[in-house]
Amino acid sequence: MVREADGLIDLRSDTVTKPTPAMRRAMAEAEVGDDVLGDDPTVQRLEALAAQRVGKEAGLFVPSGVMANLVCLMTLTGRNEEVILGDQSHLYTAEVGGLGIFGNVFLHVLPNLPDGTIPLERLQGAIRDAIYTPKTRVISLENTHNRCSGAVLPMDYIQQVATLARARGVYLHLDGARIFNAAVALGVDAAEIARPFEVVNFCFSKGLCAPVGSIVCGGAAFIQEARRTRRMLGGGMRQAGVLAAAALVALNEMIDRLAEDHEHARILAEGLANITGVHIDPARVQTNIVIFELDPATGWTSATLLSALKARGVLLSLSGTRLRAVTHYGITRADIDHALRVIQQTLTQRP
Ligand SMILES: Cc1ncc(COP(=O)(O)O)c(C=O)c1O
Repeated sequence: MVREADGLIDLRSDTVTKPTPAMRRAMAEAEVGDDVLGDDPTVQRLEALAAQRVGKEAGLFVPSGVMANLVCLMTLTGRNEEVILGDQSHLYTAEVGGLGIFGNVFLHVLPNLPDGTIPLERLQGAIRDAIYTPKTRVISLENTHNRCSGAVLPMDYIQQVATLARARGVYLHLDGARIFNAAVALGVDAAEIARPFEVVNFCFSKGLCAPVGSIVCGGAAFIQEARRTRRMLGGGMRQAGVLAAAALVALNEMIDRLAEDHEHARILAEGLANITGVHIDPARVQTNIVIFELDPATGWTSATLLSALKARGVLLSLSGTRLRAVTHYGITRADIDHALRVIQQTLTQRP
């Protein structure tokens, strides 16, 4: 891994990762065709492998995680229907309400608990099918859960939601942008996590380091219909094999090393817990996302600390009003130790 010339420790997101040397080589050599016409062999290989990894029949390569969520949920829903989702979900907090706007779908929002779940009894009471309400068509979960400190949803919880959904004739969708972080944290195959869901999407361009791309996976008939939705959203790409080639390297080479990111996040969270003025429960940090708050007595706000740290070469981001650090490929143990020192030193000063 080549350290950036600017020497910054960039913990804003795992999306800042750049393609690895193996990805760049694969991109340069990729065999391509027109994927909208169904001619790109590299995209086809990627779609088959990705679907296999999450135990589904077929896959569909799309440009982004946001579009993957849109394609899944617009394909599953029709007019007068709704999707139940959490108030902390990426879909609800960070996708401009696109599902409501482009999809004409009602967003039925329920509170997430800090562990990323939505209580089962809330889901039970929320599903509806009356003449005067939208009809519930999908429940959408997120795993790992970005705004809930990268929480991994418990497998028995997912199973209970799936049983409920099946009994009530509702589809289950997974925004699995970071499903492999969940799989590595639990020590299970991603297919096991994905099994209870009819449709799943995940990203190549986060911790897996590919420059661009996400995938939608599900049954063959669903994917055929999803292809039409992707086209409508303008997500059909032509010689997309150049991008798929990097995503194939992501799937083949970049999953197991996520454990290292989780270890770095744990060290960061434990170090932060020892800094006066920082509020964090390190036990909440199960994967690569560390979210913390500042005690008002420090005189610092998240925003003022963010800019002071930036001036000292450590980049964090905001998650709502809290601070967020995400570990990823290229961030070393030494970087974590350095970031902790900088945060501690900065907090001992007045803003
Ligand atoms: C859980 C989750 N879903 C979807 C997305 C959207 O991905 P993108 O921004 O690459 O479109 C993100 C991005 O951070 C995410 O964290």
